[in-house]
Amino acid sequence: MTFPVPTLPVPPVSVVGLGQLGGSLAAALAAAGRPVTGWDVDPAARDAAAARGVSITTVLTGVVVIAVPLPDLGSALAGLDLDPDATVTDVASIKGPVVAELTGVHGDRFVGGHPMCGTERSGYEATDPALFRGARWAVCLEPGTDLRRWLRVAEVAVAVGAEVVPVTAAEHDEAVAAVSAVPHLLAAALAAAAGQAGPLTLGMGAGSFTDGTRVIASDPAFVTALVTGNPATADALDRVRAQLDRPWAELVAAGHAVRTATRGRRPVRVPLDRAALLALGRAGGAVTRRLAAFVEGWVPDSPVARG
Ligand SMILES: NC(=O)c1ccc[n+]([C@@H]2O[C@H](COP(=O)([O-])OP(=O)(O)OC[C@H]3O[C@@H](n4cnc5c(N)ncnc54)[C@H](O)[C@@H]3O)[C@@H](O)[C@H]2O)c1
Repeated sequence: MTFPVPTLPVPPVSVVGLGQLGGSLAAALAAAGRPVTGWDVDPAARDAAAARGVSITTVLTGVVVIAVPLPDLGSALAGLDLDPDATVTDVASIKGPVVAELTGVHGDRFVGGHPMCGTERSGYEATDPALFRGARWAVCLEPGTDLRRWLRVAEVAVAVGAEVVPVTAAEHDEAVAAVSAVPHLLAAALAAAAGQAGPLTLGMGAGSFTDGTRVIASDPAFVTALVTGNPATADALDRVRAQLDRPWAELVAAGHAVRTATRGRRPVRVPLDRAALLALGRAGGAVTRRLAAFVEGWVPDSPVARG
């Protein structure tokens, strides 16, 4: 016998900043038939979003997603008409400093977020409604986070096909320093060293060079903000430097083992409780669906091998 899954009312979403991330989110929600409004300082970005079914307005209600470049986060809602009951979130690539700043402005209405997706392109021309499908989306659970608001933000992420990772801002920054900030720096170093070596070297660059340097084609202002703004970048880079001091055969074997390990998934039900949700995130799992008193998600089958 099957029981109907209780359906929960979904709030409207207002997206401020309709570039790659915000334009993609607004377009994905509109395509899913969700009420979504948007605002951008650039009229061309507003027109592009409107053409994808997004209502353009400065009135912000429901879940308000700030998707502007990092330096503009604190001022992005100034002059806009923010509903006092709205839940405010963001998509910025660093969380500790952003959660501190925006909690100072919005109090417990703010819940930090960061979708782990995006390309080296930027602006509304880079809009892709499929951007979030299958991506992890970190949603911050700080000691003072209102769990009902956390769920509202998580629900928006799930609605566009993402899987939600419950995490503290500090844990987020440590993890993202290793898998995003440091790769951007290594890509820059690879590209700069090949550039110094000269045109023959650059002309020979193929798969491994192209893949290893792709991300440094991103907007330099964006990359600089994400590597310098993350308080954990320096330590994460030191850990990579230490790896490079290992005997090369040993290093290659350790990296290969991590990259090629197959990780199955085991479905789990987790109660709507901060400690239980954070434990799911720490285990490498993610939330895929909300039920009445539980979330459904998965954890890896076996612990990740550490090299
Ligand atoms: N690019 C990525 O790969 C990526 C991935 C995950 C998260 N992020 C985060 O997403 C956020 C946005 O990045 P993006 O790549 O979408 O940038 P983007 O440059 O593609 O888009 C930013 C948009 O914000 C608009 N904007 C700027 N100031 C504004 C303001 N005050 N009010 C309204 N609109 C304003 C711009 O006109 C532009 O359309 C950043 O916080 C970034 O850290 C980016």
